[in-house]
Amino acid sequence: MKSSRLPGFYKLSIEERQQMLAELAELSPEDLQALAGGITAADADVLVENAVGIYALPFAIAPNFIIDGEELFMPLVIEEPSVVAAMAHAAKIARAGGGFTTGSTRPVMIGQIQLLDVPYPDAAIVRIQALKPELLAKLDHLHPTIRKLGGGPLDLQVRKLEDTPAGPMLIVHLLMDTRDAMGANAINTATETLAPELEAITEGRALLRILSNLSDERRAWASCRIPVGALETPELPGEEVAQGIFEANAFALADPYRAATHNKGVFNGIDAVALATGQDWRAIEAGGHAWAAREGQYRALTDWRVENNHLLGYLEMPLAVGTVGGLTKYHPAARLALKLLNNPDARRLAQIMVAAGLAQNLAALRALVTEGIQRGHMALHERRLKIKD
Ligand code: MEV
Repeated sequence: MKSSRLPGFYKLSIEERQQMLAELAELSPEDLQALAGGITAADADVLVENAVGIYALPFAIAPNFIIDGEELFMPLVIEEPSVVAAMAHAAKIARAGGGFTTGSTRPVMIGQIQLLDVPYPDAAIVRIQALKPELLAKLDHLHPTIRKLGGGPLDLQVRKLEDTPAGPMLIVHLLMDTRDAMGANAINTATETLAPELEAITEGRALLRILSNLSDERRAWASCRIPVGALETPELPGEEVAQGIFEANAFALADPYRAATHNKGVFNGIDAVALATGQDWRAIEAGGHAWAAREGQYRALTDWRVENNHLLGYLEMPLAVGTVGGLTKYHPAARLALKLLNNPDARRLAQIMVAAGLAQNLAALRALVTEGIQRGHMALHERRLKIKD
């Protein structure tokens, strides 16, 4: 795609937008079919128990994104007015600084095994560490595809929780690279396989064997560097808007009441892409909020500062996402969303999602420090009420 700019897209009818998108993103008529709602009741029956139907939400596109030099349309599934327009606007502003730059760690998931009634915890820790190669080898037969692709178990780490309401316990973390899978099933199977071995070594009792949603070994980050001039509004010069964004972010770094709202805005972007691409958004939310509180106080996930006439934005967080398995297998609209993003692997998808979160936060803060959020929001809200009447 030459450019992700789509001037006037919002003025077209839905059919015209679909046609334009089909041409620009080289979509087939079958691809477009996915925009009719995605799954059938029969699919729903495969996905969950007691299905009685399906539930649809708007699927929209935010144009204007440049991420690591790649022009992209951002697929968004969301019911809240303003989010799509705000994100498109923020992506346009970010273009003035070349768009977003992103990165990520290896896709390493953490599984936890809880060990109780361990008679000699310190000796048990030493034994687990000494037997690490043998323990990891017990997992050799699991997940051949992940291994073939260069992933698999990496490490075991042991932590002592001395003081819990149920007394002391040992917690073993299994670190595993799950490649393009979100990896919940893979890591859960591995923790269940290891638990009896750990019981034998520690003479303790294994209780929980489950992934941690604080997947802080699997993080993605995005940054942008915007010339302050690109932030100006009819009422305010760009420097003042940039300074306002810095001050608003400082508020959310210092105050959990503001941080919750601030991060909710970040998740307006991340969740919308997560839904569009068929991700477990509860896992993403849980990980993001736990990460935001990692220093003992819940804080803003983002950092904004002003340097040399530029506004610098940064967002880093855990993002456990997959591009194989799960809903990506069943949901035609999720497959379409991934196609619109040029079929990224899991790391690239996480990076794109963080850029969407940073863009959404930029849009919210820019509105809040200038005209306030209600003007744009209420205009769209009224449109919705008119449609209902
Ligand atoms: C509304 O959905 C999100 C905002 O409240 C985020 C924010 O306050 O930063 C506008």
